[in-house]
Amino acid sequence: MDRLIIGNWKMNGLSNSLEEIASLNHMIGEMGEIECYVVICPPATLIRPSCRLGGAHVHIGGQNCHSEQSGAHTGDISAEMLKDAGAGYVIVGHSERRADCGENDAIVNAKAKAALDAGIIPVICVGESEAERKSGKAIDIVLSQVRASIPDISPDAKIVVAYEPVWAIGTGLVPSLQDIGEMHSAIRQELVKKFGEMGDTIPLLYGGSMKPSNAEEILAVANVNGGLVGGASLKADDFITIIKAAA
Ligand code: PGA
Repeated sequence: MDRLIIGNWKMNGLSNSLEEIASLNHMIGEMGEIECYVVICPPATLIRPSCRLGGAHVHIGGQNCHSEQSGAHTGDISAEMLKDAGAGYVIVGHSERRADCGENDAIVNAKAKAALDAGIIPVICVGESEAERKSGKAIDIVLSQVRASIPDISPDAKIVVAYEPVWAIGTGLVPSLQDIGEMHSAIRQELVKKFGEMGDTIPLLYGGSMKPSNAEEILAVANVNGGLVGGASLKADDFITIIKAAA
């Protein structure tokens, strides 16, 4: 499968950041045919203009959606609204939302289902905390998140799963390549158990302090099909290096 590199801008970016998306589109265009699909998830306020400036090479996603498509939920955004604004993907269950907004696996599952119902691809995030890693139970914990956060899907539905150890996000810390490999292989087996052959076709991304200097070695690990990149996706010059490592 083609590599998938997704940039998560989090709560960063004003109108003047849109030039990063335009230059990214230009830089990827100059690379010619590549086996890498690139998505940026800007803040919701920038989705519509990003879709225009992303051109042919940068696809756009949201960072969160509600589990319902409309209703009395002040301040929330639905998957249908994201789709209407031009987004093709939405991140659900990011650990920052699990921590800041109390989102549990059941809520994440419902959000993923809402994304599929609206016709956009959910990027379902899982990952252990530092204490959970230290307890030696990281794999068990992540697999239970995988089981509970991923909805039952029809054979033609598309989803993405992102493994992001919470302690690696924004810290500069990264698990060893062996730990990444063990976790990704365990998640892959769980996906195959749940979905049969289709489980082999679900892109499985690594996220957490992926940057130009480590992207190539992480992307070479078995069952790592791409990356979910925070800080290093904000500047086109950094992000393009990761895309080149993937492509
Ligand atoms: P980071 O964030 O690359 O800045 O560690 C990754 C993420 O939270 O998706």
